[in-house]
Parts: sequence; structure tokens; C-alpha cells
Amino acid sequence: PSLKSFHTFGLNAECHSLVEFDSPDAFLRAQSHSNRYWLLGEGSNTVFLDDFDGTVLINRISGLEYTEYPAYHHLRVGAGENWHKLVATCLQQGWWGLENLALIPGSVGASPIQNIGAYGLEVGQFIESVEYLDIASEKVCVLSADDCDFGYRDSVFKREMAGKVLITHVNFCLPKDNHIECSYGELAKLSQPSPQAIFDEVIRVRRAKLPDPATLGNAGSFFKNPLVTVFHHASLREEYPQIPGFPVGESHFKIPAAWLIDTLGYKGCVVGGARCHPTQPLVLTNLGTAKGGDVIKLAKEIMGAVEDKFAIQLEPEVRLVGNNGLINL
Ligand code: FAD
Ligand code: EPU
Repeated sequence: PSLKSFHTFGLNAECHSLVEFDSPDAFLRAQSHSNRYWLLGEGSNTVFLDDFDGTVLINRISGLEYTEYPAYHHLRVGAGENWHKLVATCLQQGWWGLENLALIPGSVGASPIQNIGAYGLEVGQFIESVEYLDIASEKVCVLSADDCDFGYRDSVFKREMAGKVLITHVNFCLPKDNHIECSYGELAKLSQPSPQAIFDEVIRVRRAKLPDPATLGNAGSFFKNPLVTVFHHASLREEYPQIPGFPVGESHFKIPAAWLIDTLGYKGCVVGGARCHPTQPLVLTNLGTAKGGDVIKLAKEIMGAVEDKFAIQLEPEVRLVGNNGLINL
């Protein structure tokens, strides 16, 4: 079967078989029948660069359980639920907090893995715990938010636990005295920043900047924004006085990779059927005919140029999958 419609980059890749599961038991049954498998949510952070020699297992564990507590709203959500649908439901019910994360594609179960973030918030700050199946022991376990060790586009699920667990449910805690976060970019210009206004504005800005995967294949930001030391940032600023940078702790700065790529003139650059997006150069897109090789070539060209010019190593933010599984560029 084709994987084209199962990942938002939409490359023409095949796999031996595709199985959708809606419970941990169904996952284990399917997994035990395959020598090699790849676990997928909605495929919005996964790029199948080539045919995958194995089974792709798609998570459809559903459900939402709500409990009200005096100080907060508690939600236990099935990992296969759609993220944006959850954000919209919460807003509608008056369970506020997640609005800044509206319109991020993907499943609820993938949200803690890279600690999805946008417009000044990261999901980790609303997660109470993550329920998962330890695949080797077949035991169901719970990990508290502290133990998830959330960071920028990072958690224990992306490191030590990668490939070893199936996240089955995520428990969210939305405090009733939640304060509105509206300092990032266009949100700061809102005259009356209510949760609904933030939700609407985030959707408006995202639609204006980011390509819609339904019409132009992509997986969002292809690279992470790099962290550099304060010394590195200072020396870059001597040469490029306008370089943006946001302090992270006392010793680092985060630099928008979009600025680095833009400054090097890669906006709109095309390799085969892959293109660096003209309005947001951190996003690589599939013009419809891209091959995995085009995407790799374009990504490597950008990484090489950024390294040569700024002495910064860009790291892919997306998961690149080849014949046998994960590929490192
Ligand atoms: P998938 O791509 O299906 O899977 C991602 C990884 O998680 C894979 O390694 C997979 O094996 C693993 N995985 C998936 N489900 C499970 C599970 N239940 N248990 C264990 N492992 C699992 N991200 C942001 O943080 N902020 C943004 O603003 C943002 N904007 C985006 C905009 C666009 C247009 C697109 C296409 C993507 C964007 N992303 C953004 C990236 C993406 O939305 C997130 O990474 C999302 O969480 C991926 O969810 P998914 O279900 O599609 O994951
Ligand atoms: N910029 C340019 N040229 C451009 C576009 C941007 O120089 O053409 C510079 C500007 O300095 C701008 C800065 O880049 O201020 C930041 O741009 P933007 O606000 O679009 O955010 P980003 O850093 O490029 C990150 C996330 C996005 C998230 C937005 C909003 C990463 C890797 N990406 O992008 O997440 O939606 O912030 O919070 O951290 C994703 O992960 O897939 C994703 C889309």
C-alpha cells in the first residue's frame, strides 16, 4: 500500500502493510506479526523518503474523559484523537489554556513526544502525565510530567524511550486561573486578548504563513531553531548586526533558523520537486513530484550553507524514514 496519504509531506512511498489499531492489545497483535514496524499518528512530523520495508501501524486509540476539580479541569485523552479538535473542544467548553497551540497538525499521542509548541506556549506545561505501553514487557505505565523531561521540541520519548513505547493516553491539567499568553509576535497586537481572540489570531497567522499540507505537502518546520552560546551569538552580531536571537538561560541564544536560511537566499529554492517555502523558509515542501532524494539534497544543501556561513549545525526537526527505519542526515 501507498503511504502518500498517511504522511503530510505526501511522498510516493510504499510499505509492506498498513494496520490501524484502536487499543494496546490490537497494537501488540499487529506488532507481533511484523519483523519491522513504524508507529504513526497522523504523519505530520514523519517523512517517508523511500519505501518502508515493514508494517506501518496507525494509532486510532480514541476517547476523552473529563473531570472537574475546584482548581482545574482534568482531561484524559486517547492518543489517536486529533490535536486541533481537542484544542477547539476545550475552547468551546471554557477549559482554557491550549488556544496558542491551535491548528498544529497531528495526534494527541504525538504531542508530548516533541513537546509541541507555538506562539509562546509548549504543551508540556499542561500535561499532568502520559500513559504508555512498554512494548518489550507489555506493561502499561504512567510517567509524570516531571519525568517526561520536556524541553524545546524534546522529551524523554524522543531520546531514551524512542521506539520502546506506545503512548496510549495523555492526561492534561488546565488550571482555572490560567493566565493568557499573548506576548509572541502578532498576538501582542491584540486589543482584547481573550482565549477566543487568541485562537482566531493564531489560526489566521498560521494560515497566512504556513503551507496547508492538504494542498502543498510539508511537515512544518524542517529544522529546529538552533541554540548557540552567548559568545557565538556576539561574534555573529558583529558581522550581522540585525541577527535575531532570544536568550535561553544565561549562556545561550536561540536563533530563528528561518532568518539564517532567508539571509542565505534559499527562499523559493527548488531541487527536483522539493522547495524551500517562499513565505517561511524553515518549511520544505513537496511540489507534487518530489522524490526522497530531492528532499535530502535540498536539506543537505541548506545545512551545509548554514554551517559554512554561520558555523551553526542545523538539526532536522522532522523524522526521516527510509527502508529500514529512522535516517540521520
Ligand atoms: P507522526 O508524524 O505520526 O509521528 C511523529 C513521531 O512520533 C514518530 O516518530 C512516531 O513513531 C511517533 N509516535 C506517534 N504517535 C505515537 C504514539 N502514540 N506513541 C509513541 N510514538 C508515537 N509542531 C510544533 O511543535 N509546533 C508547530 O507549530 C507545528 N506546526 C506544524 C505545521 C505544519 C503545517 C505541519 C505539517 C507540522 C507542524 N508541526 C508543528 C509538527 C507536527 O504537527 C507535530 O510534531 C505533531 O505532534 C506530530 O503529530 P503526528 O501524530 O502527525 O506524528
Ligand atoms: N524569519 C525570517 N524570514 C522569514 C520568516 C521568518 O527571517 O521569511 C525570522 C524572523 O526573524 C522571525 C523569526 O524568523 O521573527 C521567527 O519566525 P516565526 O515566528 O515564523 O517562527 P519560527 O521560529 O520560524 C517556530 C516554530 C514553529 C511555530 C512558530 C510559532 C520551530 C522549529 N518552529 O517557527 O513550529 O509554529 O515558531 O511559534 O521551533 C513546527 O515545529 O513545525 C512549527 C511550524
